[in-house]
Amino acid sequence: MRFIPITHIKPGMLLAKSIYNKNGSLLLRAGTKLKSHYVIKMNEIGILGAYIEDEISKGLEIDSVISDELRMKAVDKVRDVFLDAETGRSTVDQNMSQANELVDNIIDELIDNKHIMVNMVDIKSYDEYTYQHSVNVCVLSIIMGISLGFTREQLTNLGMSALLHDIGKIFIDIDLLNKVEPLTDAEMDIMRGHSLDGYRYIKYEFDFPFQTNIGILQHHEKYDGTGYPRNKEGEDISLFARIIAIADVYDALISNRYYKKAVPPSEAMEYIMGGAGAHFDYDLVNIFVRKVALYPIGAGVKLSNGDVGIVAKNYPDAPNRPKIRLLDKDCKDYTYIDLKNDFTTKDVTVLKIVNI
Ligand SMILES: [Fe+2]
Repeated sequence: MRFIPITHIKPGMLLAKSIYNKNGSLLLRAGTKLKSHYVIKMNEIGILGAYIEDEISKGLEIDSVISDELRMKAVDKVRDVFLDAETGRSTVDQNMSQANELVDNIIDELIDNKHIMVNMVDIKSYDEYTYQHSVNVCVLSIIMGISLGFTREQLTNLGMSALLHDIGKIFIDIDLLNKVEPLTDAEMDIMRGHSLDGYRYIKYEFDFPFQTNIGILQHHEKYDGTGYPRNKEGEDISLFARIIAIADVYDALISNRYYKKAVPPSEAMEYIMGGAGAHFDYDLVNIFVRKVALYPIGAGVKLSNGDVGIVAKNYPDAPNRPKIRLLDKDCKDYTYIDLKNDFTTKDVTVLKIVNI
């Protein structure tokens, strides 16, 4: 199977994974052959792409680091918590403790799958962005925490901090959050207030450990001291915040927003690597790059020798040298090229992700 963005989805394609709407109801079951009115509907409701089974991707398994069901439950719960907080509903305590339980479930699944590299593709819809982004940042942060040898308790505290890192955005007007035009200085100040506002809200309304709260406060601080709200520098920024900062920026970059298009995972990772030691903690970037695939399995790639193929396997210790299925001219048949292990391919590099 492979992930294909909605712009390249065509009638006749075979769904490899079921598609759900934002309430978790099944829209199209895995195994369905897409008809043209399904594709129109998918476009209408803002589905950003789908997993497809075809000849060239046959046999490629894309393992999710957490199950779709758990991801959906977590997104639902984040939505409840954010809406409760925004409207002052009394259900917030109950929803928050359920969110905590879901973070524990996420940790369980991530520990079970700790050898899998994350194959992240953007499936976020515009109106659900904040909730889906929160869950992604939570997953990516916990993955780094596991690599760092965190205790179970630390992982839970980190997971909650990551899940709630942007809760301060409930205090910002939705029109400003989705504004397409460049922000004025005053608007930028309001936007930047979300980390302090979120910290204050969580600190005064709940009983989370200090580290969880401080991760929310400092998630926009930068390693070189150019971040906000306090221009903290280096290890004066809490470890949680340094972890969340990487996960947050990476996931934001690979997302489509009203005001910007998503960039491919490889370019997002290049940005993160470029910021190692400046915006981001160098050692943490080193961990991150070994856990998140630059070229997700199933992604179409163009190579420096002009060949085109799809990624078949990734190597954590050589993230930019995947094994690739090279396609023939009609994209019907393929051979393999292993950029890590085949030394005759030493001069070949992956140029970029392309749609096939
Ligand atoms: Fe933020």
